[in-house]
Amino acid sequence: MTKVKFLSGEFVPMEMHKVRMVQKVNLKPVEDRLRAMDEAGYNTFLLKNRDIYLDMLTDSGVNAMSDNQYAAMLQADDSYAGSETYYRLEKTLQDMFDVKYFLPAHQGRAAENIISQIMVREGSTVLMNYHFTTSKAHIGLRGGAVEEIIIDEGLVITSDHPFKGNMDIGKLEEAIARLGRENIAYVRLEAGTNLIGGQPISMENMRTVSRICREHGIPTVFDASLLADNLYFIKTREAEFADKDLREVTREMGRLMDVTYFSGRKLGFARGGGILTSDETLFHKMRELIPLYEGFLTYGGMSVREMEAMSVGMEETLDLDVISQTPIFVEAFTEELQAKGVPVVTPPGGLGCHVDASAFCDHLPQEQYPAGALAAALFIASGVRAMERGTMSEERRPDGTEPLAEMELVRLALPRRVFTLSQVKYAADRLAWLYQNRELIGGLTFVEEPSVLRFFFGRLGATSDWPETLAKAFRRDFGDSL
Ligand code: F0G
Repeated sequence: MTKVKFLSGEFVPMEMHKVRMVQKVNLKPVEDRLRAMDEAGYNTFLLKNRDIYLDMLTDSGVNAMSDNQYAAMLQADDSYAGSETYYRLEKTLQDMFDVKYFLPAHQGRAAENIISQIMVREGSTVLMNYHFTTSKAHIGLRGGAVEEIIIDEGLVITSDHPFKGNMDIGKLEEAIARLGRENIAYVRLEAGTNLIGGQPISMENMRTVSRICREHGIPTVFDASLLADNLYFIKTREAEFADKDLREVTREMGRLMDVTYFSGRKLGFARGGGILTSDETLFHKMRELIPLYEGFLTYGGMSVREMEAMSVGMEETLDLDVISQTPIFVEAFTEELQAKGVPVVTPPGGLGCHVDASAFCDHLPQEQYPAGALAAALFIASGVRAMERGTMSEERRPDGTEPLAEMELVRLALPRRVFTLSQVKYAADRLAWLYQNRELIGGLTFVEEPSVLRFFFGRLGATSDWPETLAKAFRRDFGDSL
């Protein structure tokens, strides 16, 4: 992706790919969208694809694959043990991250399970720039605690800080002194920090964190799931790397961290996951769990076809033309919304555009899930499926009380190479309409609340008949239009 100058002087994002296979999508009338949202218990995870126009729930497992990935799939070497496909993937990843060992896992959270089982002790703490839902849940299941030491700017919604995902070095040193290194299971750095708006971490920050942790003998764990976007930001926002090859950047990251893991549903344009390390002891310990939870060591729950696609996809991740598509679209999306006055997280990050639901729905208390309500309202108004990233996505404390999220965000993910600019403009337009009518959005309350990761399949109800009122207002303003 690159931006080219038009006659008007405007710089317009240009796709550096062409579409050679398409999938039909449906844009249903607002009454049908209202019914579908109601049937889904006002939880966008429970919607059915057939009712959705643009699926911006996530980039996980839904990135478009390239011709070369499909071609590689045909060459997959099908075998339970010792498949050539596995060795190709292993070599690709060892080269990419400059590490000795690779362990396959069926997806990112499976890698988190293995890492937590081996590295988290009851009562220990994991320090991290910011948590991700599944990473925190796995650490909690092992009796560990999570402490987030993101820079203060990371939680400021509107900012121009280029690396809001950075860890606060002062807080890191303070936490090590306070907790004692023996009580710190590891320090986890997440690339493209998901829950604060896909915000990147700088190489300089990674280097400093790694140095301090090594001085204290504390292991470091790198969640590279959103590495593609993060690489783009390092290349474009960190002067030292402007002319550096992305492979060199990635290899340095691999050397800085003791363990790297990833969701292959995000990184590598396929589906799967894995763990990388050069630490022989950790490798041997973690390896024992792979056949128990994932599958034999040469597939780890992944199909050989996906592994072939992933090998090619990892190489594509090192191509700036390929990885810039999402961040440049996110930037265009964010600027479009800002121009319409809609409150959004800035600077634009990777992964997707993040709307600030606290400001959007400032009439709703956090206990009524403003981000969840906005995601439901957006679906009714547009058929666009987004994801709540706020209090609904938090786990209850052991005493049953509900922590309120630090940010109430609605994430409109842009799966890589999937949507066109006109589709992005449509989503922005409907959000702008919703913003003008924001007082019509009411609250939500749980009707069925699972005890773990409740946001996935919990069911909610509207606190009034606001969804019907919203649908009527849509009809009033848009007439017969979908
Ligand atoms: N780490 C990060 C930063 C993630 O974003 C995800 C998944 C995982 C780990 C877990 O990986 O899904 O393969 O098990 N994020 C998805 C999302 C679910 O929609 O943001 P997984």
